[in-house]
Amino acid sequence: MSAELRGPAGIASGADGSGEKSGHIYTVLSPMAGVTDVSFREICHEMGASLTVTEMISAKAVTYGNKNTFKLCTLSDAEHPVSLQLFGSEPDVVAQAAQILSSRVPFDMLDINMGCPMPKIVNNGEGSALMKDPALAGRIVKAAVGAIDKPVTAKIRSGFDADHVNAVEVALAVCEAGAEMITVHGRTREQYYEGKADWGVIARVKEAVGDGAVVIGNGDIDGIDAARKMIGETGCDGIAVGRAARGNPWIFREIKEGRVYRPSPEEKKEMIMKHLKMTIAEKGEYIGIREMRKHIGWYTAGLPDSAKLRVRINQAESFDEMADLIRLGI
Ligand SMILES: Cc1cc2nc3c(=O)[nH]c(=O)nc-3n(C[C@H](O)[C@H](O)[C@H](O)COP(=O)(O)O)c2cc1C
Repeated sequence: MSAELRGPAGIASGADGSGEKSGHIYTVLSPMAGVTDVSFREICHEMGASLTVTEMISAKAVTYGNKNTFKLCTLSDAEHPVSLQLFGSEPDVVAQAAQILSSRVPFDMLDINMGCPMPKIVNNGEGSALMKDPALAGRIVKAAVGAIDKPVTAKIRSGFDADHVNAVEVALAVCEAGAEMITVHGRTREQYYEGKADWGVIARVKEAVGDGAVVIGNGDIDGIDAARKMIGETGCDGIAVGRAARGNPWIFREIKEGRVYRPSPEEKKEMIMKHLKMTIAEKGEYIGIREMRKHIGWYTAGLPDSAKLRVRINQAESFDEMADLIRLGI
């Protein structure tokens, strides 16, 4: 393990053990397939996220030159620093993909997915299947570190199932292999996204790796209070927000400013319009409209009459139709 903390670009090292430097918490938009596309990442970055992460990208598909996969790697100039997340199970394939991408995409760091619970991924030995094989997890990180000139990081779970909670062992293996940052989602693969995240495992990982790697705590952060609590309880260097950012990119502003922030209906309307325009510019009207249906569902959850609005939003077929509903309905 490297004795000295080599924090990824721009990371507040948290070497003081607080994770909160000058009152500023390091925040990551946690990768979410189908959610953290370039538009949403840019919005979260503007709202104060310290780092954003792409949706997970198949290392194998990169080496096959799959066009759709390269689309997922599109980054905007306005969103740096951004981490690109790869999933794969073969060290040489991950290394090759990392090399190909680093010559084509200006990402700032590379994250290896060791947490995806979906059967089609796990049955291929990828994602959270790597939690079952710490030595392989280490070899994958080592191969990526050797292939590119950018920081390599890993995102792990607490373990594969309740009988195998081995995040510390996996963290030490990837740290030894050169991972500079480790995000720990305090749930096992068996739990998927259910139940309460176990923050105790995050504390144990931070204690074990010490200054050898930056540790980002993940699971159930829904605002400034939870962010402070996680840092206080675990000593992690920063936090990653997943589901609570959907429809609420202001969560990064809240955590950055250190006080609860509730956007007004007018602000929500403006944000949805902006998000809609960015998504259509990125993906075209047909796909953009369809992708925005779920985002608008998240933005409007809990607003008066939002269920009725969502039914109409889900039927909208054009930008004009959707924009009218947003203008009049919120
Ligand atoms: C819809 C969805 C997609 C996700 N996709 C990814 C992914 O591509 N890569 C990854 O490492 N984690 C993925 N995750 C896990 C999240 O990054 C995060 O670890 C998890 O949701 C726990 O954080 P939270 O409690 O703040 O949501 C996904 C989660 C959700 C809900």
